Amino acid sequence: MEIVCVTGAGGYVASWVVKEVLAKGYFVHGTVRDLDDEKKNGHLKKLKHAEEKLHLFKADMLDYASLCTAMDRCTGVVHVASPVPAGKAEMFEPVITGTRNVMNACLNTKVNKVVIVSSLLAIVANPSWPKNQVMDENCWTDVEFCMKNEKWYCAAKTISEREALEFGKKNNIKVVTVCPSLVFGPMLQSTICTTNLVLLNLFKGENSFNLLELNAQDDIDIPIVDVRDCANALLLAYEKAEADGRYLCSSHTLKKKALTELLNSLFPHYIYPTNCYRASDEKLNYTCEKLVNLGWNHMSLEKTLVDSVRTFQKAGLLS
Ligand SMILES: NC(=O)c1ccc[n+]([C@@H]2O[C@H](COP(=O)([O-])OP(=O)(O)OC[C@H]3O[C@@H](n4cnc5c(N)ncnc54)[C@H](OP(=O)(O)O)[C@@H]3O)[C@@H](O)[C@H]2O)c1
Repeated sequence: MEIVCVTGAGGYVASWVVKEVLAKGYFVHGTVRDLDDEKKNGHLKKLKHAEEKLHLFKADMLDYASLCTAMDRCTGVVHVASPVPAGKAEMFEPVITGTRNVMNACLNTKVNKVVIVSSLLAIVANPSWPKNQVMDENCWTDVEFCMKNEKWYCAAKTISEREALEFGKKNNIKVVTVCPSLVFGPMLQSTICTTNLVLLNLFKGENSFNLLELNAQDDIDIPIVDVRDCANALLLAYEKAEADGRYLCSSHTLKKKALTELLNSLFPHYIYPTNCYRASDEKLNYTCEKLVNLGWNHMSLEKTLVDSVRTFQKAGLLS
């Protein structure tokens, strides 16, 4: 059976990817930055089939040699590792140079299939896209606009995704990119990632959407996908021979206020942020038809939220 390398294996999304890839019978080379950090990566060793099929490698995205070691004998790579919004200096190097290193390591180790986790933010931050035209994979975030507005994460993800697709074409490596929206849903790891922190904070009366380079005040549309559906999309992109180019990956869209109200109706025991959303007409109009045509489907938003809350409670993050 072939070996698949998953970068940043201990992270929120990547842990689900590792779980699904192991369940499919593949061997996995997972990269982590610290092999001894049980808090961050210990959960991986407890996954079904991990004992026989998962091998962890120490690798930083900025250390090309460590990536070549991890990818040795692999047929494919799912590149997930990336810091999630943290400011310019921290963001650019690992995202852009990191993805370049991954692509060069693929070339060096003769990996011929790569799935890159990009972001919906590499699609939608484009003020010139016609207002009445539905956004799809043809729409690219305007990097200049993002730099001017200090949206470093949007810019870095867009540049790295575009470069990876071009690198693949030039070097005859199959590169498919998946652009997920905000990922919610249960965590396999015991440390909390940025997205789940934003969700968790809502139960504590705090609006912290700014952590995700999203406008915190305006009541804008929030696009959401479940972490398990996101992992499935990545697997489809990996396995389907016809998978090609970019895939927008999002299941639900609702305004921040509507999300808060839904949470309040599902879990009335918590305190939610009130009066902090300014009315906004801004509408996010996109389609995931391309991914659905590849065989993707998704679960209900209620299930995602209920399962998220269960893991928060289990981890003692919500009293
Ligand atoms: N969560 C979302 O809502 C969302 C939405 C769209 C796209 N994405 C994309 O999905 C991917 C995973 O995000 P996530 O939410 O799962 O975040 P996460 O839990 O913070 O995981 C990020 C992973 O990247 C690793 N990493 C960061 N910098 C690295 C470096 N220089 N070298 C090696 N590894 C590095 C981290 O390793 P350590 O554990 O060592 O820090 C961690 O394993 C990212 O590419 C992100 O851009 C996420």
